[in-house]
Amino acid sequence: MVVLEGPTVRLRPILPADCPMLFDWYNDPDLVAPFDRYTTETYDSFLRSVAAAEGDPGSLAPRFAIERRTERDVVGLVGHYRAHPVLEYVDVWYLLGSREVRGHGLGRESVGLLVDHLLRTETVERIGATCDVENVPSSKLLERLGFRREGTMRSALFHHGRWHDVHFYGVTRAERSPPG
Ligand SMILES: CC(C)(COP(=O)(O)OP(=O)(O)OC[C@H]1O[C@@H](n2cnc3c(N)ncnc32)[C@H](O)[C@@H]1OP(=O)(O)O)[C@@H](O)C(=O)NCCC(=O)NCCS
Repeated sequence: MVVLEGPTVRLRPILPADCPMLFDWYNDPDLVAPFDRYTTETYDSFLRSVAAAEGDPGSLAPRFAIERRTERDVVGLVGHYRAHPVLEYVDVWYLLGSREVRGHGLGRESVGLLVDHLLRTETVERIGATCDVENVPSSKLLERLGFRREGTMRSALFHHGRWHDVHFYGVTRAERSPPG
């Protein structure tokens, strides 16, 4: 069982007991609003996708729960997926489930742990991420971790009744762990 420990959070595998709450997050449009689309699915299909994620590099299912080390409560999720059929990189995604825990650096710490784990375990040189151009917290989080904004896709994501432009970001192995 892979557990990634940071000063404030640990990323640990998702347990069956987490799933009812995580399913509620997935089906709450206000949690990701106004920056992303959300998915509605059945509880059974959610459980199946979490269980199948380990053997599927392209799975969009959450891979780790974010647990606060002191409180021992689950406050968020992170995932990663092979994002392109030909190009070789892994994209990360992240969500803090309650608004009260946002803005205290937990997202940055969690995504940093995930990126470093992926660079240790995946044979890729680049970790990527995308975010709605209006998602300032997400852009800042990525930039503080050393990601560079590589471009902007126009009208790439439909949510909340309109098309949105999306930044794509990337960080290379050398940028994240400079030699010497
Ligand atoms: C994106 C998210 C994970 C960020 O996590 P977080 O723990 O709240 O962010 P952090 O505290 O690590 O801060 C990241 C940066 O954003 C800034 N920030 C945080 N909230 C902000 C806000 N509401 N407005 C402007 N900047 C904000 C912080 O100051 C920090 O910038 P700094 O390093 O220059 O000081 C979290 O806000 C979230 O879950 N949002 C909803 C889901 C989502 O948008 N996921 C990403 C989809 S691409």
